[in-house]
Amino acid sequence: MTAIRSVVLGCGSYLPQQILTNAELAARIDTSDEWIVQRTGIHERRIAAAGELTSHMAVRAAQAALTHARVDAQSIDLVVLATSTPDNTFPASAVAVQADLGITRGAAFDLQAVCSGFVYALATADALLKSGAFTRALVIGSETFSRILDWTDRGTCVLFGDGAGAVVLEAQQQPGTREDRGILTTQLRSDGRHKMKLYVDGGPSSTGTVGHLRMEGREVFRHAVAMITDVVEDAFKATGYTAADVDWFIPHQANKRIIDGSAHKLGIPPGKIVVTVDRHGNTSAASIPLALADAVADRRIKRGDLLLFEAMGGGFTWGAALARW
Ligand code: UT7
Repeated sequence: MTAIRSVVLGCGSYLPQQILTNAELAARIDTSDEWIVQRTGIHERRIAAAGELTSHMAVRAAQAALTHARVDAQSIDLVVLATSTPDNTFPASAVAVQADLGITRGAAFDLQAVCSGFVYALATADALLKSGAFTRALVIGSETFSRILDWTDRGTCVLFGDGAGAVVLEAQQQPGTREDRGILTTQLRSDGRHKMKLYVDGGPSSTGTVGHLRMEGREVFRHAVAMITDVVEDAFKATGYTAADVDWFIPHQANKRIIDGSAHKLGIPPGKIVVTVDRHGNTSAASIPLALADAVADRRIKRGDLLLFEAMGGGFTWGAALARW
Protein backbone atom coordinates (compact mmCIF):
# COMPACT_ATOMS: atom_id res chain seq x y z
CA MET A 1 0.00 0.00 0.00
CA THR A 2 1.51 3.32 -1.04
CA ALA A 3 1.81 6.24 1.37
CA ILE A 4 2.39 9.97 1.13
CA ARG A 5 5.70 10.84 2.76
CA SER A 6 7.25 14.23 3.46
CA VAL A 7 10.57 13.96 1.65
CA VAL A 8 13.37 16.40 2.44
CA LEU A 9 14.37 18.04 -0.84
CA GLY A 10 17.06 20.25 0.66
CA CYS A 11 18.33 22.11 3.69
CA GLY A 12 20.20 25.29 4.52
CA SER A 13 21.30 27.45 7.41
CA TYR A 14 22.43 30.90 8.39
CA LEU A 15 24.63 32.14 11.22
CA PRO A 16 25.15 35.78 12.14
CA GLN A 17 28.68 37.04 11.63
CA GLN A 18 29.56 38.05 15.18
CA ILE A 19 31.27 35.32 17.20
CA LEU A 20 31.17 35.59 20.98
CA THR A 21 33.83 33.43 22.64
CA ASN A 22 33.92 32.08 26.17
CA ALA A 23 36.97 34.28 26.83
CA GLU A 24 34.96 37.38 25.89
CA LEU A 25 32.18 36.30 28.27
CA ALA A 26 34.73 35.66 31.04
CA ALA A 27 35.92 39.25 30.64
CA ARG A 28 32.36 40.49 31.36
CA ILE A 29 30.96 38.12 34.01
CA ASP A 30 32.22 35.72 36.68
CA THR A 31 32.79 32.64 34.51
CA SER A 32 35.64 30.89 32.71
CA ASP A 33 36.29 29.12 29.43
CA GLU A 34 37.19 26.03 31.46
CA TRP A 35 33.84 25.97 33.34
CA ILE A 36 31.76 26.52 30.21
CA VAL A 37 33.61 23.90 28.14
CA GLN A 38 33.62 21.33 30.92
CA ARG A 39 29.90 21.72 31.80
CA THR A 40 28.48 22.31 28.30
CA GLY A 41 31.04 21.68 25.53
CA ILE A 42 30.40 25.20 24.21
CA HIS A 43 33.41 27.21 22.97
CA GLU A 44 31.66 30.02 21.12
CA ARG A 45 28.26 31.17 19.85
CA ARG A 46 26.95 33.64 17.27
CA ILE A 47 25.14 36.87 18.11
CA ALA A 48 22.72 38.60 15.73
CA ALA A 49 23.75 42.10 14.61
CA ALA A 50 21.78 45.17 15.68
CA GLY A 51 18.68 45.24 13.52
CA GLU A 52 19.10 41.62 12.44
CA LEU A 53 15.81 39.94 13.27
CA THR A 54 14.62 36.35 13.58
CA SER A 55 12.73 36.67 10.27
CA HIS A 56 15.85 38.01 8.50
CA MET A 57 17.89 34.97 9.55
CA ALA A 58 14.97 32.67 8.70
CA VAL A 59 14.85 34.11 5.18
CA ARG A 60 18.59 33.54 4.68
CA ALA A 61 18.32 29.93 5.86
CA ALA A 62 15.21 29.38 3.73
CA GLN A 63 16.95 30.77 0.63
CA ALA A 64 19.88 28.41 1.21
CA ALA A 65 17.46 25.47 1.60
CA LEU A 66 15.55 26.42 -1.57
CA THR A 67 18.82 26.64 -3.51
CA HIS A 68 19.97 23.28 -2.15
CA ALA A 69 16.58 21.75 -3.02
CA ARG A 70 16.71 23.36 -6.49
CA VAL A 71 13.14 24.62 -6.18
CA ASP A 72 11.63 28.06 -6.57
CA ALA A 73 10.13 29.94 -3.62
CA GLN A 74 6.90 30.23 -5.65
CA SER A 75 6.42 26.47 -5.39
CA ILE A 76 6.12 26.65 -1.57
CA ASP A 77 2.56 26.60 -0.20
CA LEU A 78 3.33 26.15 3.51
CA VAL A 79 5.79 27.99 5.79
CA VAL A 80 6.13 26.79 9.37
CA LEU A 81 8.56 28.82 11.46
CA ALA A 82 9.57 27.42 14.82
CA THR A 83 10.64 30.24 17.12
CA SER A 84 10.30 31.53 20.66
CA THR A 85 11.89 34.85 19.71
CA PRO A 86 9.59 36.27 17.01
CA ASP A 87 10.19 39.74 15.54
CA ASN A 88 6.96 40.96 17.16
CA THR A 89 4.24 39.44 19.35
CA PHE A 90 2.21 39.39 16.15
CA PRO A 91 1.92 38.94 13.22
CA ALA A 92 3.79 35.67 12.97
CA SER A 93 7.38 36.09 11.79
CA ALA A 94 6.52 33.38 9.26
CA VAL A 95 4.44 35.87 7.27
CA ALA A 96 7.44 38.23 7.12
CA VAL A 97 9.46 35.32 5.74
CA GLN A 98 6.67 34.52 3.28
CA ALA A 99 6.59 38.15 2.08
CA ASP A 100 10.39 38.45 1.81
CA LEU A 101 10.48 35.29 -0.30
CA GLY A 102 7.70 36.67 -2.52
CA ILE A 103 5.25 33.87 -1.67
CA THR A 104 1.61 35.01 -1.84
CA ARG A 105 -0.27 31.71 -1.67
CA GLY A 106 -0.77 28.95 0.85
CA ALA A 107 -0.28 29.48 4.59
CA ALA A 108 2.45 30.64 6.94
CA PHE A 109 2.50 30.49 10.73
CA ASP A 110 4.82 30.42 13.72
CA LEU A 111 5.04 27.49 16.09
CA GLN A 112 6.34 27.82 19.62
CA ALA A 113 7.69 24.80 21.49
CA VAL A 114 10.99 26.37 22.59
CA CYS A 115 13.96 24.02 22.02
CA SER A 116 11.65 21.29 20.71
CA GLY A 117 10.23 23.73 18.16
CA PHE A 118 11.89 22.23 15.10
CA VAL A 119 10.70 18.69 15.87
CA TYR A 120 7.19 20.05 16.55
CA ALA A 121 7.29 22.04 13.29
CA LEU A 122 8.51 18.99 11.36
CA ALA A 123 5.65 16.90 12.79
CA THR A 124 3.09 19.63 12.00
CA ALA A 125 4.26 20.16 8.43
CA ASP A 126 4.46 16.39 7.92
CA ALA A 127 0.84 15.95 9.05
CA LEU A 128 -0.37 18.82 6.83
CA LEU A 129 1.51 17.47 3.80
CA LYS A 130 0.21 13.94 4.39
CA SER A 131 -3.35 15.30 4.66
CA GLY A 132 -3.10 16.50 1.06
CA ALA A 133 -3.82 20.12 2.05
CA PHE A 134 -0.34 21.31 1.02
CA THR A 135 2.33 20.07 -1.37
CA ARG A 136 5.64 21.75 -0.54
CA ALA A 137 6.69 23.18 2.82
CA LEU A 138 9.47 25.26 4.26
CA VAL A 139 10.13 24.23 7.86
CA ILE A 140 12.38 26.73 9.59
CA GLY A 141 13.89 27.15 13.03
CA SER A 142 15.18 30.66 13.73
CA GLU A 143 16.10 32.27 17.04
CA THR A 144 17.58 35.43 18.50
CA PHE A 145 17.91 34.22 22.09
CA SER A 146 20.61 36.88 22.65
CA ARG A 147 17.70 39.35 22.92
CA ILE A 148 15.93 37.53 25.80
CA LEU A 149 19.00 36.64 27.85
CA ASP A 150 19.85 38.29 31.14
CA TRP A 151 23.49 39.03 30.37
CA THR A 152 24.25 39.31 34.10
CA ASP A 153 23.03 35.74 34.82
CA ARG A 154 26.02 33.45 34.30
CA GLY A 155 23.82 30.38 34.75
CA THR A 156 22.03 31.05 31.45
CA CYS A 157 23.77 33.68 29.29
CA VAL A 158 26.75 31.45 28.48
CA LEU A 159 24.54 28.74 27.02
CA PHE A 160 22.63 30.25 24.11
CA GLY A 161 23.33 31.63 20.64
CA ASP A 162 21.54 32.96 17.55
CA GLY A 163 21.02 31.35 14.14
CA ALA A 164 18.59 29.74 11.72
CA GLY A 165 18.16 26.53 9.76
CA ALA A 166 15.56 25.33 7.27
CA VAL A 167 14.42 22.33 5.27
CA VAL A 168 12.20 22.03 2.20
CA LEU A 169 9.70 19.16 2.43
CA GLU A 170 7.66 17.79 -0.43
CA ALA A 171 4.68 15.41 -0.31
CA GLN A 172 5.65 12.39 -2.40
CA GLN A 173 3.96 9.09 -3.06
CA GLN A 174 6.21 6.34 -1.67
CA PRO A 175 5.85 2.53 -1.55
CA GLY A 176 4.64 2.75 2.07
CA THR A 177 7.38 0.71 3.72
CA ARG A 178 9.92 1.64 6.35
CA GLU A 179 12.51 1.87 3.56
CA ASP A 180 10.64 4.91 2.15
CA ARG A 181 12.41 8.24 1.79
CA GLY A 182 11.14 11.07 3.98
CA ILE A 183 9.75 11.37 7.47
CA LEU A 184 8.94 7.91 8.85
CA THR A 185 7.64 8.86 12.28
CA THR A 186 7.35 11.86 14.59
CA GLN A 187 6.72 11.62 18.32
CA LEU A 188 5.75 14.69 20.38
CA ARG A 189 5.44 15.01 24.16
CA SER A 190 4.89 17.76 26.73
CA ASP A 191 4.35 18.01 30.47
CA GLY A 192 3.31 21.44 31.72
CA ARG A 193 3.98 20.57 35.35
CA HIS A 194 7.56 21.60 34.54
CA LYS A 195 6.63 24.94 32.99
CA MET A 196 8.48 27.08 35.54
CA LYS A 197 11.81 25.21 35.19
CA LEU A 198 12.67 26.97 31.94
CA TYR A 199 10.64 30.04 31.06
CA VAL A 200 10.70 33.72 30.16
CA ASP A 201 9.59 36.05 32.97
CA GLY A 202 7.47 38.30 30.76
CA GLY A 203 4.92 38.26 28.00
CA PRO A 204 2.06 40.18 26.40
CA SER A 205 -0.70 39.00 28.74
CA SER A 206 1.30 38.79 31.98
CA THR A 207 3.69 41.73 32.21
CA GLY A 208 3.30 43.49 28.90
CA THR A 209 7.07 43.14 28.47
CA VAL A 210 9.24 40.65 26.62
CA GLY A 211 11.03 39.35 29.72
CA HIS A 212 14.21 37.36 30.22
CA LEU A 213 14.99 33.67 30.12
CA ARG A 214 15.06 31.96 33.53
CA MET A 215 16.14 28.39 34.11
CA GLU A 216 16.70 25.85 36.83
CA GLY A 217 19.57 24.32 34.87
CA ARG A 218 20.15 21.38 37.16
CA GLU A 219 16.42 20.43 37.02
CA VAL A 220 16.37 20.58 33.21
CA PHE A 221 19.52 18.49 33.10
CA ARG A 222 18.05 15.94 35.54
CA HIS A 223 15.06 15.20 33.27
CA ALA A 224 16.68 15.61 29.86
CA VAL A 225 18.33 12.25 29.16
CA ALA A 226 15.38 10.14 30.37
CA MET A 227 12.81 12.16 28.41
CA ILE A 228 14.92 12.12 25.25
CA THR A 229 15.68 8.41 25.35
CA ASP A 230 12.02 7.50 26.13
CA VAL A 231 10.66 9.39 23.14
CA VAL A 232 13.39 8.05 20.86
CA GLU A 233 12.52 4.51 21.95
CA ASP A 234 8.89 5.29 20.98
CA ALA A 235 10.11 6.41 17.54
CA PHE A 236 11.99 3.11 17.21
CA LYS A 237 8.89 1.15 18.27
CA ALA A 238 6.74 3.01 15.72
CA THR A 239 9.04 2.03 12.84
CA GLY A 240 10.61 -1.24 13.94
CA TYR A 241 14.07 0.29 13.71
CA THR A 242 16.67 0.16 16.47
CA ALA A 243 19.63 2.34 17.41
CA ALA A 244 21.85 0.07 15.31
CA ASP A 245 19.97 1.16 12.15
CA VAL A 246 20.58 4.89 12.70
CA ASP A 247 23.19 6.38 10.36
CA TRP A 248 23.20 9.87 11.89
CA PHE A 249 21.96 11.10 15.25
CA ILE A 250 21.13 14.81 14.97
CA PRO A 251 20.12 15.95 18.44
CA HIS A 252 19.05 19.35 19.71
CA GLN A 253 22.31 21.04 20.66
CA ALA A 254 21.78 22.14 24.27
CA ASN A 255 24.71 20.65 26.04
CA LYS A 256 27.40 18.15 25.01
CA ARG A 257 26.85 16.19 28.25
CA ILE A 258 23.13 15.74 27.50
CA ILE A 259 23.91 14.72 23.90
CA ASP A 260 26.57 12.21 24.94
CA GLY A 261 24.46 10.86 27.83
CA SER A 262 21.46 10.29 25.54
CA ALA A 263 23.56 8.68 22.79
CA HIS A 264 25.27 6.41 25.32
CA LYS A 265 21.95 5.29 26.83
CA LEU A 266 20.50 4.64 23.37
CA GLY A 267 23.64 2.78 22.24
CA ILE A 268 24.58 5.17 19.45
CA PRO A 269 28.37 5.40 18.97
CA PRO A 270 30.08 8.84 19.14
CA GLY A 271 31.07 8.64 15.44
CA LYS A 272 27.40 8.82 14.41
CA ILE A 273 26.53 11.99 16.38
CA VAL A 274 26.38 15.37 14.65
CA VAL A 275 27.69 17.96 17.12
CA THR A 276 27.65 21.73 16.59
CA VAL A 277 27.04 22.93 20.16
CA ASP A 278 30.76 23.68 20.48
CA ARG A 279 30.50 26.38 17.77
CA HIS A 280 26.83 27.42 17.95
CA GLY A 281 25.84 27.09 21.61
CA ASN A 282 22.15 26.33 22.17
CA THR A 283 20.20 27.99 19.34
CA SER A 284 16.89 26.49 20.56
CA ALA A 285 14.55 25.70 17.63
CA ALA A 286 17.33 26.44 15.13
CA SER A 287 19.86 23.93 16.47
CA ILE A 288 18.68 20.77 14.67
CA PRO A 289 18.40 22.26 11.16
CA LEU A 290 21.74 24.06 11.72
CA ALA A 291 23.39 20.74 12.63
CA LEU A 292 21.67 18.96 9.73
CA ALA A 293 22.87 21.57 7.23
CA ASP A 294 26.42 21.21 8.57
CA ALA A 295 26.50 17.44 8.11
CA VAL A 296 24.89 17.67 4.66
CA ALA A 297 27.30 20.41 3.52
CA ASP A 298 30.38 18.35 4.47
CA ARG A 299 28.79 15.25 2.84
CA ARG A 300 28.63 13.16 5.98
CA ILE A 301 24.91 12.59 5.32
CA LYS A 302 24.23 10.63 2.13
CA ARG A 303 21.07 9.75 0.24
CA GLY A 304 19.35 6.80 1.89
CA ASP A 305 20.79 7.46 5.36
CA LEU A 306 18.47 6.99 8.34
CA LEU A 307 18.43 10.17 10.45
CA LEU A 308 17.31 10.45 14.06
CA PHE A 309 16.28 13.88 15.39
CA GLU A 310 15.39 14.63 19.01
CA ALA A 311 14.89 17.65 21.21
CA MET A 312 13.84 18.60 24.72
CA GLY A 313 13.20 22.03 26.20
CA GLY A 314 10.94 24.53 27.95
CA GLY A 315 7.47 23.33 28.90
CA PHE A 316 8.81 20.71 29.20
CA THR A 317 8.32 19.76 25.59
CA TRP A 318 10.21 16.98 23.88
CA GLY A 319 10.06 14.88 20.77
CA ALA A 320 11.81 12.76 18.19
CA ALA A 321 11.63 12.02 14.48
CA LEU A 322 13.09 9.41 12.16
CA ALA A 323 13.60 10.29 8.50
CA ARG A 324 15.33 8.74 5.52
CA TRP A 325 17.45 11.22 3.58
O1 UT7 B 1 17.29 23.06 25.61
C1 UT7 B 1 17.26 22.90 26.98
C2 UT7 B 1 17.95 24.09 27.52
N1 UT7 B 1 18.61 23.94 28.75
C3 UT7 B 1 19.58 23.08 29.00
O2 UT7 B 1 19.92 22.20 28.28
C4 UT7 B 1 20.25 23.25 30.31
C5 UT7 B 1 20.44 21.99 31.02
N2 UT7 B 1 21.32 22.20 32.17
C6 UT7 B 1 22.64 22.31 32.02
O3 UT7 B 1 23.16 22.23 30.93
C7 UT7 B 1 23.46 22.48 33.26
O4 UT7 B 1 22.62 22.36 34.38
C8 UT7 B 1 24.21 23.83 33.30
C9 UT7 B 1 25.30 23.83 32.27
C10 UT7 B 1 23.24 24.98 33.06
C11 UT7 B 1 24.85 24.00 34.66
O5 UT7 B 1 25.70 22.91 34.94
P1 UT7 B 1 25.59 22.16 36.34
O6 UT7 B 1 26.66 21.18 36.36
O7 UT7 B 1 24.18 21.68 36.49
O8 UT7 B 1 25.92 23.35 37.35
P2 UT7 B 1 25.03 23.91 38.54
O9 UT7 B 1 23.88 24.71 38.02
O10 UT7 B 1 24.75 22.80 39.50
O11 UT7 B 1 26.05 24.91 39.20
C12 UT7 B 1 27.29 24.46 39.75
C13 UT7 B 1 28.09 25.66 40.17
C14 UT7 B 1 27.29 26.66 40.99
O12 UT7 B 1 28.15 27.16 41.99
P3 UT7 B 1 28.07 26.63 43.50
O13 UT7 B 1 26.66 26.94 43.93
O14 UT7 B 1 28.36 25.17 43.40
O15 UT7 B 1 29.12 27.43 44.20
C15 UT7 B 1 26.97 27.76 40.02
O16 UT7 B 1 26.81 29.01 40.66
O17 UT7 B 1 28.52 26.40 39.01
C16 UT7 B 1 28.19 27.77 39.16
N3 UT7 B 1 27.95 28.34 37.84
C17 UT7 B 1 28.94 28.86 37.09
N4 UT7 B 1 30.26 29.01 37.31
C18 UT7 B 1 30.99 29.56 36.34
C19 UT7 B 1 26.79 28.44 37.15
N5 UT7 B 1 27.00 29.02 35.96
C20 UT7 B 1 28.34 29.29 35.90
C21 UT7 B 1 29.17 29.88 34.92
N6 UT7 B 1 30.48 29.98 35.18
N7 UT7 B 1 28.69 30.30 33.74
